[in-house]
Amino acid sequence: MNNFSYKNTTKIHFGKGEISKIKEEIPANARVLITYGGGSIKKNGIFDQVIDALTGITFFEFGGIEPNPHFETLVKAVEFARKEKITYILAVGGGSVIDGSKFIAAGTLYRNELWEIIETNGAHIKEAIPLGCVLTLAATGSEMNKGASITRAETKDKLFFGSTHVFPKFSVLDPTTTYSLPARQVGNGVVDTFVHVVEQYMTYPVNAKVQDRFAEGLLMTLLEEGKKALITPEDYDVRANLMWAATMALNGTLATGVPTDWASHMIGLELTGLYGLDHAQTLAVLLPAVWLYKKEQKKEKLLQYADRVLNIKQGDDEEKILAVIAHTSQFFTDMGVPTRLQDYGLDETIIQPIIEKLEQHKFVKLGEYKDITPDDVRSILKLAL
Ligand code: NZQ
Ligand code: ZN
Repeated sequence: MNNFSYKNTTKIHFGKGEISKIKEEIPANARVLITYGGGSIKKNGIFDQVIDALTGITFFEFGGIEPNPHFETLVKAVEFARKEKITYILAVGGGSVIDGSKFIAAGTLYRNELWEIIETNGAHIKEAIPLGCVLTLAATGSEMNKGASITRAETKDKLFFGSTHVFPKFSVLDPTTTYSLPARQVGNGVVDTFVHVVEQYMTYPVNAKVQDRFAEGLLMTLLEEGKKALITPEDYDVRANLMWAATMALNGTLATGVPTDWASHMIGLELTGLYGLDHAQTLAVLLPAVWLYKKEQKKEKLLQYADRVLNIKQGDDEEKILAVIAHTSQFFTDMGVPTRLQDYGLDETIIQPIIEKLEQHKFVKLGEYKDITPDDVRSILKLAL
């Protein structure tokens, strides 16, 4: 196991009815900015629960944060927060709203040009307005981590920043809030969670037994429960297990002491930025191609996953690895997230623009060995066509 330092400062309130706990977390004299997306929270009753919990506290609203939140929109929110002297931000939504709210939280107190936050990966953030979250979509883990992905719509740059200052102070995880999700977002959430786990697992062994078995437990949970959420959307236990799995998959725990990959995520950001695919759609396309391309380097862990998670016992090593990739791709397809570029109407003409964006962003040494170059990405994308 590698050395590591680990700290996570987000408090979690988990379960049905826990939205009412907001009032215990936000000071009575706060000036709260409720941030949200395209309005789903106003149709499914979540907004009303939040307002109830804020009784007696001054609040303002900023809606319209889009999926893959736009820098241009968030700049307007920062201006609003400065004007109204906001002292607490309450993000109500999925990863996009929470990520966008992290930017607003840091941006409102930022002294330099706002894009610098993204350009410097958040390195110069010295403070942020406290942020609380009500999660409505189990997927990204943003509710319990310090990262955020932001898109500059004007230039199609989808990038990210991180800072310990934007760890949510608290997050409410009420599984019933996810009942109203469209099937596409249920599938996306399970696939994103799955890929977060394997980005931190499917590398090479370092004898990190706790992390490995923790990751395998999360993968088994997703494989068992994922499809049930599509079939019986209002099954509380299914939603609860998926929600906690998503949070645990990317709150820093799995990455402790182990090598991590993240190649599928890095290439996937460019695919979303340039062609607008949902985040999870990019991962469903890229992950099987990365595994196929890197199957020799990932051999030991692919076989461990075959044995312990998928129970694949037949065949030689090569056959088992190909079965692992086929099985995982089928799982994504079953979740309603297709795994080939052509399923999204894309062909080989996308390859060169993606390579150019990766080079522009200096994402030129990817994967756990930092050996995936733009030429390798070209080969990976060909495997994904
Ligand atoms: O905008 P509203 O109206 O709320 O609708 C949203 C949106 O259209 C809808 N939705 C959310 N909760 C709902 C609901 N509809 C009905 N009922 C509910 N309870 O779902 C749609 C998608 O929402 P979005 O927040 O975009 O999805 P997700 O949570 O998958 O977030 C994706 C974003 O997170 C970033 C992605 O890059 C992408 O920008 N990620 C953030 C990470 C992080 N901070 O650690 C890591 C991830 O790898 C990822 O990069
Ligand atoms: Zn992701």
